[in-house]
Amino acid sequence: MSRIAYVNGRYQDMRDASVSIEDRGYQFADGVYEVCEVRGGRLVDMPRHLTRLQRSLGELRIALPMPLSSLAVILHEVVRRNRVRFGIVYLQISRGVARRDHGFPVKAVKPGVVVTARTIDPARGEDNATRGIKVITVPENRWPRVDIKSTALLPNVLAKQAAREAGAYEAWYVDRDGFVTEGSSSNAWIVTREGRVVTRPDSSGILSGITRGVLIEALEALQIRFEERPFTPAEAADAAEAFVTAASMIVMPVVAIDGRAIGNGTPGPVARRLREQFHRFSAFS
Ligand code: PDD
Repeated sequence: MSRIAYVNGRYQDMRDASVSIEDRGYQFADGVYEVCEVRGGRLVDMPRHLTRLQRSLGELRIALPMPLSSLAVILHEVVRRNRVRFGIVYLQISRGVARRDHGFPVKAVKPGVVVTARTIDPARGEDNATRGIKVITVPENRWPRVDIKSTALLPNVLAKQAAREAGAYEAWYVDRDGFVTEGSSSNAWIVTREGRVVTRPDSSGILSGITRGVLIEALEALQIRFEERPFTPAEAADAAEAFVTAASMIVMPVVAIDGRAIGNGTPGPVARRLREQFHRFSAFS
């Protein structure tokens, strides 16, 4: 079955789909994106993703190309046309097409909109979660506006590749003060030996993850003690458990950091429980 993408107003076979070489998304990474989990053919926490999208666009002064309700229709339609039951839907909005010039186009242009969806075998995620993933640490080298979900991801690409080359699955950035900020494509968490779940506040240094936000609500509902504060790689290595969250990974246990086993080197009970329970607290549409 060929894959279908939504590209600037049309649903197209992906093999024929294209955007202009003068799209600013292509030339300057001048755009934003969202990734939403698809589960049982439905979108997980889509309204929150769209709210964050609107914020990212606002921070970059890119016009919202259509009402959020229309974007929601397109997301559903791309999922439907690709018959995705488990996987992700990807939405990207760029500032649009204009002759290459760093400053914003003088005459307003229409933002570029692309939506794709793809199936991910749920067994693969479960497999990873059963084994747990390894992380490495890398120096934080991104711009300070990581709160914007921008397509400018070169440092994230390099960090992920460094992880792969080290036999790990994710890289955690460490800021100048020695604290973990987040992963190259996920938020970072630990569980202390006292059973407190800890993650960095979203006031600086991280993207405010949708999965993170939902999980914080789940922790409250499940009466699991929770602290929002930065932690160091050393604290993570000595913690009872660690895990990461992202729409593409839900709650993914971390079993080693920079080659040091965390806890007994297998996924911990808190991370396993939160992974099992997560979707009770998310909104499906
Ligand atoms: N990444 N931090 C970063 C840097 C991310 O790229 C992501 C998500 C997250 C988690 O956000 P959320 O829970 O809203 O997915 C945190 C997506 C999945 C990606 O780039 O593929």
